[in-house]
Amino acid sequence: MKTTTASVFLLFIFSTTQSSFLFGVATTGHNPVLDIEGEVVRTGIEYYAVSAIWGPSGGGLAIGNSSKNDCPGIVVQSQSDVDYGAPVIFSNANTSDDAVRLSSYVNIEFPSPVNKFCLTSTVWMLDDFETSAGTHRVGLGGIKGNPGCETMRNWFQLEKFDMNHVYKFKYCQKVCDTYMDVCHEIQKAEDPDGRMRLVFSADGSSGQGYPFIFIKVGSATTKKSSCVE
Ligand SMILES: *[C@@H]1O[C@H](CO)[C@@H](O)[C@H](O)[C@H]1NC(C)=O
Ligand SMILES: *[C@@H]1O[C@H](CO)[C@@H](O)[C@H](O)[C@H]1NC(C)=O
Repeated sequence: MKTTTASVFLLFIFSTTQSSFLFGVATTGHNPVLDIEGEVVRTGIEYYAVSAIWGPSGGGLAIGNSSKNDCPGIVVQSQSDVDYGAPVIFSNANTSDDAVRLSSYVNIEFPSPVNKFCLTSTVWMLDDFETSAGTHRVGLGGIKGNPGCETMRNWFQLEKFDMNHVYKFKYCQKVCDTYMDVCHEIQKAEDPDGRMRLVFSADGSSGQGYPFIFIKVGSATTKKSSCVE
């Protein structure tokens, strides 16, 4: 009985407001992410992911060496606000779309060459839970593509921050459909070696993600001239 009522109700909505309903979905859920110049962020193109906060809060994201290993294995934030770090490249779970969109699953990779003796990939992934840190951190060694349960550690999302052209990273488990729809904000915290790392918010969506802007490599824009305070 309940099901019937719901279906009738949905049919009614579709027959009367279908176009506005679809338009609403297309514009709220899947707006493209914009770089600091207001251009759509595209897959396969290099961008610096730089702190939106100007000052001692630091610069761009970069590859860091894990203290356990000689090979790079972690994502760090440069602590100099004139250092944009290393470029990242996004790729979409939906490979037929070349625009990076809000709330959609992306792989993030540092295309920078690493030591040739290192076999670690430079694709971002969720590291194991670290008891000392009390949280998960963002590391490297992920694998691109094949969205689903086996690859769920490698998918991230971007969400709007409360300022124009400013975004935060998020991690959501729902890329694996047997998991609950739980997301974590990605914040930052210093590790015991004094490096600024990307860390997961304690649980659920508590706390705010850290704000970043995207600067296309080779573009004339500098963070200073666009100055997001
Ligand atoms: C990481 O280690 C390699 C070799 O051990 C070194 O060449 C590189 O400069 C280090 N990178 C950083 C960011 O410390
Ligand atoms: C994938 O992207 C294409 C191109 O933008 C779009 O038409 C299609 O609906 C997308 N597929 C999904 C499942 O979102």
